[in-house]
Amino acid sequence: MNREDFPMMKSGYIYLDNGATTWKPQVVIDKINDYYTKFTANAHRGDYDISLKVDNEYENARDIVKEFINAKTRQEIVFTSGTTDSLNLIVEGFFKDNIEALDEIIIAESEHASNVLPWFRLAKSCGAVVKFCPLDENHYVTLSNLKKVITPRTKVISLAMITNVIGDLRPIKEICEYAHQHNIFVVVDGAQSVAHIKTDVQDLDCDFLAFSGHKMCGPTGIGVLYGKYELLDDIEPKNLGGGMNESFDNIDEVYLKPLPTRLEAGTPNIAGAIGLGAAIEYLQTIGMDKITAYEQELRRYLIRKLEEIPHIKIINIESDSGIVAFNVDGIFAQDVAVYLNKYKVCVRAGNHCAKILKNEVGVKNSVRVSIYFYNTTQELDKLVELLKDKNKILNEML
Ligand code: ALA
Repeated sequence: MNREDFPMMKSGYIYLDNGATTWKPQVVIDKINDYYTKFTANAHRGDYDISLKVDNEYENARDIVKEFINAKTRQEIVFTSGTTDSLNLIVEGFFKDNIEALDEIIIAESEHASNVLPWFRLAKSCGAVVKFCPLDENHYVTLSNLKKVITPRTKVISLAMITNVIGDLRPIKEICEYAHQHNIFVVVDGAQSVAHIKTDVQDLDCDFLAFSGHKMCGPTGIGVLYGKYELLDDIEPKNLGGGMNESFDNIDEVYLKPLPTRLEAGTPNIAGAIGLGAAIEYLQTIGMDKITAYEQELRRYLIRKLEEIPHIKIINIESDSGIVAFNVDGIFAQDVAVYLNKYKVCVRAGNHCAKILKNEVGVKNSVRVSIYFYNTTQELDKLVELLKDKNKILNEML
């Protein structure tokens, strides 16, 4: 759907790597172009027309994000460079001061590196313990499995809403309800979910949410950190500098601005933020429910077709998102990707930054197809056609 909105369609590629990044519609490109060609100025610093326009556009983008995820207040929306930046800020800025030796952090082996490594570092530095929620036979996190690893020392549960290889949708609302009854914080990595399903942070009741603009038709280098106001207000700014301070006269008299500006030191990514605002408005004109339903339809279609090919082993037959991970018997995943590239089909191969998922699924690498709303059944047919003949792959892969 909406293929005509994307200039990249003219490239002739079949783009099935939307978990890595998405293509951008013309409206987003135009918005960024307008900023650079019609009203370039800094934000929050000038007293002339175009600077005031930048202030309005930048803060309007924040309002768009706020509405999109149904945050309570606009102060709860901080612009970052992406999910990774947001998660690191949550861990280093908030949990560093709220976790001590022997406290427990629960994640899962199917998490992306960005939701593993910051916790490893924190645990190592203060003597806390990182525990993994056991996954069920479909590699899903369930509340009952989580309960098995929660103890009175559990301080935080940090999970992707949808994971980037298995594509499973976690029961975050139920997890938050249980966690909060036990004074446990819940951090949500929304990198693979916010672009694909409706997100309502008040309904979920998560404490923090991190996501990226470029995975939802927006530009790279812009992301969002959502946090409940009172928690966000506790975050120690990682960066100090211009824009975020109210005043300073000497070492003892440094006063910082309120949220969210306090956490956005330096010139912000203005083009990124307003581009993200345009991307969200664009997605809303299509409708998130429609996007979700269409992607699931495409996924079911692809799974049905792949299941008919004996040399294909699907890793995540059961999944709630447009992500399908598989291997071709006896052929290295990267070789399959290189072969598909010869036919202008883009997929990702490897461990997908989920490097401990291998403990769970038994294979280190896979080919990952990740669908977005602009993909079609015809594109999936082409992929399936290319995968059907194993000899062809073997002959042409290098
Ligand atoms: N996190 C991105 C992915 O899963 C890059 O491909």
